[in-house]
Amino acid sequence: MKILLTGANGLLGHHILKTAHNISPNVEIIATARQQPYSGYKPFEYLDINDEVKLNYFLDVYNPDVLVNTAAISKVDYCQQNKAQCYRTNYEAVKNMADACYRKGIHLVHLSSDFIFDGKKALYHEEDQPSPVNYYGECKKMAEAYLLNSPVTTAIVRTILVYGHPPSPQKGNILTWVLDSAQHNEDIKVVNDQFRCPTLVYDLAEGVMKIAMQKKDGIWHIAGNELTSVFDFACRIATKAGYNTNFISPISSLELSAPTQRPPKTCLDLNKSITELDYHPKNIADGLRTLQDEYND
Ligand SMILES: NC(=O)c1ccc[n+]([C@@H]2O[C@H](COP(=O)([O-])OP(=O)(O)OC[C@H]3O[C@@H](n4cnc5c(N)ncnc54)[C@H](OP(=O)(O)O)[C@@H]3O)[C@@H](O)[C@H]2O)c1
Repeated sequence: MKILLTGANGLLGHHILKTAHNISPNVEIIATARQQPYSGYKPFEYLDINDEVKLNYFLDVYNPDVLVNTAAISKVDYCQQNKAQCYRTNYEAVKNMADACYRKGIHLVHLSSDFIFDGKKALYHEEDQPSPVNYYGECKKMAEAYLLNSPVTTAIVRTILVYGHPPSPQKGNILTWVLDSAQHNEDIKVVNDQFRCPTLVYDLAEGVMKIAMQKKDGIWHIAGNELTSVFDFACRIATKAGYNTNFISPISSLELSAPTQRPPKTCLDLNKSITELDYHPKNIADGLRTLQDEYND
């Protein structure tokens, strides 16, 4: 099995490269990104996914069985303020990938998001209708719709608030934000009225690899199984690392007045992934323990 991977320097892409051979010893992965992989991984090719000509060239040269697209502009506020860029990368590039993969008979695995939903339902099933509340979610929704209506064989993988150690200190996520703030004695405010099922990046990498190796199609929910407020999650990260949590203050979404609206609660039904993929995500305590063990090694 040969996989061409986009976004190799992202949180997910990096962890796919790190773990893929444990999960699937016979897989060959060609990493692509806009910069050399922080891990030094090879084989590697420079690829901006907005460059349709180069994408087609690498698909011809490597002729992979599967293209796994983890590249995206994942910063929600940035997308709201840079709509044309978000549209180009999170929608148009995916559309081009689908067309190219269909022409060349390549299976496409694409990463989507809980942010396609408005967050008013307790639990979202694969077939629930998207109704995003921000532009990032809107572009993810458009990409999903294009893939589902395209003749390409494709899997859409939705996930939620991914946490793990990033490949480089410049690349942040909630884990690094909380730990860096604690280390530098900086106070932070974290919303206590937004609820998520955070996803350990290792669980996501494993789920994505299972989907790619089995060339699954349709919609897949690969996320965490424990609902928490973002504030409580931040406190648990700090506590696990041995910090007092008094540098973290709760704040409501209204008080925070972030430039971008976010869904109040997102939790994805995992039954299909549990049954058909044998996907068993770690709860938050075990997820944080895994990361602490990794950090201490
Ligand atoms: N992280 C989450 O909480 C979360 C939640 C739901 C869904 N998702 C989705 O899951 C996927 C993986 O997310 P992640 O956490 O790994 O995000 P990430 O850490 O931000 O990684 C995304 C990667 O995409 C790359 N990228 C952006 N534009 C590109 C372009 N034009 N060409 C090539 N590469 C480009 C970035 O490259 P540079 O390193 O060069 O900037 C970055 O390395 C994304 O589709 C994201 O939307 C993530």
